[in-house]
Amino acid sequence: MRITNVCCIGAGYVGGPTMAVIAQKCPHVKVTVVDLNADRIAKWNDPDVDNIPVYEPGLGEIVAHSRGKNLFFSTEVDNAIDEAQLIFISVNTPTKTYGSGKGMAADLKYIELCARQIARVSKGDKIVVEKSTLPVRTAEANKNILDNTGNGVQFQILSNPEFLAEGTAVEDLLSPDRVLIGGENTEEGKKAIQALVDIYANWVPKERILTTNLWSSELSKLTANAFLAQRVSSVNAISELCEKTGANVSEVANAIGMDSRIGNKFLKASVGFGGSCFQKDILNLVYISKSFGLQEVADYWEQVIIMNDHQKRRFSKNIVSTLYNTVADKKITFLGWAFKKDTNDTRESAAIYVADDLINEQANIAVYDPKVNYNQVLSDLDYLETRAAESNKKHTISFSDPYEACKNAHAIAVLTEWDEFKEYDWQRIYDAMLKPAFIFDGRNLLDAKKMNEIGFVFQAIGS
Ligand code: UDX
Ligand code: UDX
Repeated sequence: MRITNVCCIGAGYVGGPTMAVIAQKCPHVKVTVVDLNADRIAKWNDPDVDNIPVYEPGLGEIVAHSRGKNLFFSTEVDNAIDEAQLIFISVNTPTKTYGSGKGMAADLKYIELCARQIARVSKGDKIVVEKSTLPVRTAEANKNILDNTGNGVQFQILSNPEFLAEGTAVEDLLSPDRVLIGGENTEEGKKAIQALVDIYANWVPKERILTTNLWSSELSKLTANAFLAQRVSSVNAISELCEKTGANVSEVANAIGMDSRIGNKFLKASVGFGGSCFQKDILNLVYISKSFGLQEVADYWEQVIIMNDHQKRRFSKNIVSTLYNTVADKKITFLGWAFKKDTNDTRESAAIYVADDLINEQANIAVYDPKVNYNQVLSDLDYLETRAAESNKKHTISFSDPYEACKNAHAIAVLTEWDEFKEYDWQRIYDAMLKPAFIFDGRNLLDAKKMNEIGFVFQAIGS
């Protein structure tokens, strides 16, 4: 089957960039991205591509290239489903906040809603592609819903997990390490797999397109993220030991990273990993393991999360104890709120948890992030439900100018590794702060020697 019309349900950080790249690389395919959120769709359609809702370097140009030609953003979900031969599901699958599996299992209600909608609308055979990260064996549930509630048409389910990292999404999509496609080992299953392979083959070398069975594909995505997160937790565990022993975690990381068996990626000690995937995917792995009675397997992976929570808490505790055991009414400036640089995404960002701890100690938090606004900061804190929204508002403020943000601060905490922070006039910042002026570098971003020379009391993670 030659695919000429695809649709994607979910215009988020995954669906938006992925479809923009498919549209650019496959001019013969009409790509429609739909979303329930009308505001989000309107932003994707904004004539000025600087206003699209997802910030990713290079994405604006790619959207501008195809939008209105073979790339469309719309709220008309039924129409798009009806027209498409192949449908990507890229809606969010947050961790459940209620009922059984609360705080651990993935909430699949949006996925199920999508499956039911596809079943209701479809008048012809379709391929349904799971793009969202899902617990293993979700495809089975989707297939049941589609086959039993549909209009008697045939559905093929594929799993095609996304491995892009935010901040480098465009690069990752244009030259992926691999594309993974899982499907059923039947005649129809193989045809569906081939149809999707043919789309990616427009720009991805054949040897980088892997095909597997559905369960392997679903589990590979969780496993990839669990392994990456485990490396960060491992190096973060060593960072604490470094601080006690006089070792320097960057030096240790460099030394072990040169071992080709270990490799040098994902060894940056930090205030803790964030993002929409790592924690959620590991919790999925833990939950599935537990549900099969594999307690040791569950405990093993859960420790990655426990270490990450510890790292965030340790950072805020250190700020309090260094500032003479009290931060009440002190101004602490956060440089960065996003979960990593080059994205406006703040989901599970370490900054949120560090701020929450410090507000519990009655600190006043001043935030500067080049891509995150005040409303987002407030909604992230409110989401934790630690205290009344009024109180979050009282204890936070945000600035669009970093020098203003740092003025009269007792301390600066670096939470995101934005490149621009390195270029600041740090002498000017020092002169405008209260003394002694502290910096807590949660990203090992700034030059310790330079900061000490200016007069800062400087502490970085892991040294
Ligand atoms: C999400 C998940 O977080 C990730 O695990 C998965 O791999 C891909 O989907 P992301 O694109 O970053 O990643 O999520 P988000 O930015 O929240 O986008 C999801 C979009 O789906 C939202 O815009 C939401 O409005 C939309 N949506 C959700 C629908 O259109 N219909 C629904 O029923 C539910
Ligand atoms: C991740 C995976 O990399 C990607 O393949 C998957 O599809 C989705 O999840 P993402 O969440 O966008 O991508 O970001 P990633 O670059 O993996 O970083 C995750 C977190 O780990 C960030 O908070 C980052 O700052 C932190 N991190 C990463 C470190 O603290 N140290 C490192 O060395 C690397």
